[in-house]
Amino acid sequence: MAEANAAHAGEFRLGGKLPIHRLGFGAMRITGPDVWGAPRDRAEALRTLRRLPELGVNFIDTADSYGPDVSEPLIREALHPYPQGLVIATKGGQVRPGPNVWVPLGRPEYLMQQVKLSLRRLGLEQLTLWQLHRIDPKVPRAEQFGTIREFLDQGLIRHAGLSEVNVEEIEAAQKVFPVTTVQNRYHAHSRRYEPVLEHCAAHHIGFIPWAPLAAGRLANPGSPFEQIARRHGATPSQVAIAWLLKRSPAMLPIPGTSRVAHLEENVAAADLMLTDEEFAALAHSAPNSGQPPPT
Ligand SMILES: NC(=O)c1ccc[n+]([C@@H]2O[C@H](COP(=O)([O-])OP(=O)(O)OC[C@H]3O[C@@H](n4cnc5c(N)ncnc54)[C@H](OP(=O)(O)O)[C@@H]3O)[C@@H](O)[C@H]2O)c1
Repeated sequence: MAEANAAHAGEFRLGGKLPIHRLGFGAMRITGPDVWGAPRDRAEALRTLRRLPELGVNFIDTADSYGPDVSEPLIREALHPYPQGLVIATKGGQVRPGPNVWVPLGRPEYLMQQVKLSLRRLGLEQLTLWQLHRIDPKVPRAEQFGTIREFLDQGLIRHAGLSEVNVEEIEAAQKVFPVTTVQNRYHAHSRRYEPVLEHCAAHHIGFIPWAPLAAGRLANPGSPFEQIARRHGATPSQVAIAWLLKRSPAMLPIPGTSRVAHLEENVAAADLMLTDEEFAALAHSAPNSGQPPPT
């Protein structure tokens, strides 16, 4: 088999222009337990990040709140000066009062501060893609969208996206700024955002499924994907990723890991082709799925 390379997953053009390989990397797991503090194995986290360009991964997802302030500086330490064509997508708009606690904060002055701090931590003059981590229900959404418009107008960011949103929210945002990506929880066994995925695919918005391995559940021993994985001489994590890549050309999975071996395994999923029957069977294998089959 050819060496694993994210390029084998095909290309997506952010905003219709900026090409990335569809299989990316989620940089939330290079932090401490409960996404708090430094990673347990800092050297391995750095090795994992440095392996990305060698494996053709040119799309990294991170956030100011991962650590907080741990993931972005590690990316800079590992990869700056950044290789040509690498897109680092970051996010802002959540505060972290403690481990595994996430609270949306969408006040314009806070979002502005966080964009500027992300620029500083990543060592960039412009963020290629910045995403609002959550729409803050305590702040009028028009204010939050207007602030994103300002980031674009001021050249602080080149593209903007949203996270955990429905179609109505995407349409409301589109009236204020072009929505380049949407990042919602989605994997073969969690498909409540099918209508959002369909909307994104129809409007050339990149759909970034977070927790593509169900935070490890689909990858670990006992995974419901083991049988089909065995048939292909593959691993359950590779089957989970291959399912997402087959689901839609707008799908941009960002499996997260803190280990080189898992990264290499995940990227090799770009070469795994599921049959249509396997694709349908995996979607239907969800416990209590009750979800419509993907089209
Ligand atoms: N927008 C949002 O609200 C939001 C929320 C959550 C996450 N995200 C983004 O989405 C990315 C992905 O989500 P996620 O990291 O939560 O979940 P995930 O990618 O579904 O799963 C990550 C977990 O699976 C394990 N894993 C990865 N590859 C594996 C493999 N080949 N074999 C066995 N275990 C494996 C990892 O552990 P090891 O480190 O041991 O490999 C980690 O614990 C995040 O990194 C982050 O960038 C966004």
